[in-house]
Amino acid sequence: MSDDFDETSEPDLTADEEALLKELPTLTDVGQARRKFIGQSIAGGLGIFALTLLEQEKVLAALAISPDAMFAPAVGVENSVKVVLKINGATKSLELDSRMVLLDALRERLELTGSKKGCDHGQCGACTVIVDGRRVLSCLTLAATCEGKEVTTIEGLAQGDNLHPMQAAFIKNDGFQCGYCTPGQICSAVAMLTEAKNGEASYVTADVRQTPRSVALTDDEIRERMSGNICRCGAYPNIIKAIQEVHSGKQAAQSWSFHKAESNLADAINDVLTKEATSDATV
Ligand code: FES
Ligand code: FES
Repeated sequence: MSDDFDETSEPDLTADEEALLKELPTLTDVGQARRKFIGQSIAGGLGIFALTLLEQEKVLAALAISPDAMFAPAVGVENSVKVVLKINGATKSLELDSRMVLLDALRERLELTGSKKGCDHGQCGACTVIVDGRRVLSCLTLAATCEGKEVTTIEGLAQGDNLHPMQAAFIKNDGFQCGYCTPGQICSAVAMLTEAKNGEASYVTADVRQTPRSVALTDDEIRERMSGNICRCGAYPNIIKAIQEVHSGKQAAQSWSFHKAESNLADAINDVLTKEATSDATV
């Protein structure tokens, strides 16, 4: 059988196919109707497309925020409640969705982004802040329930340029790597020391009858009490050292230092800055 294809040859049709072909109208008979049909289809399709665009524009217009805004403004707050919070010593009045959690209020409305959102399910401790002296998971705490309470975040621990002793101890003892869990770890550790001082027992406290005398914080006590704060980098041994140092008040030797080259670079930068400051002062 030849593979050659002759495009001028007629196809072989059966008798039924021949009869059917004769009954079909010619192309010119249906041409007008077909053009009309295609035109109507395109017009209909464009109409639906335009309506969809209009709807999308309406939705986007409702969401639009100022181009200068770094954080979402309180537009279109649903279920709004007015809440007065005391954050790091300052009084803040906010109009919030009654369902907003403290973590979102801090980060999205007050620009306090030190508290981190790790799991948003109360399982990692990255969002820990201190409310009226007690540590809480801000991802599970409704902001409206903090009305009139004192909220302390990681931003509120230092006094000006002076770090809180727990912050300084974390740096000195190399208590972090990526640092994501660190604000929560530090807030948790600060409030935990108060809990132990007040004699609050933990699961591993040997003699719970000794309360309300303060509980001596062994490494096991610290591990148990800090178990709600997860560190994905595994900086736990150094976190315990840092907490022990603050708890005992005994200064341990720093076990790390800058590399010599880094120290030299830091000295050189300091020299330049000092010279610049001196020349500015004499102008
Ligand atoms: S973000 Fe709150 S516990 Fe993980
Ligand atoms: S330092 Fe990275 S998660 Fe703790």
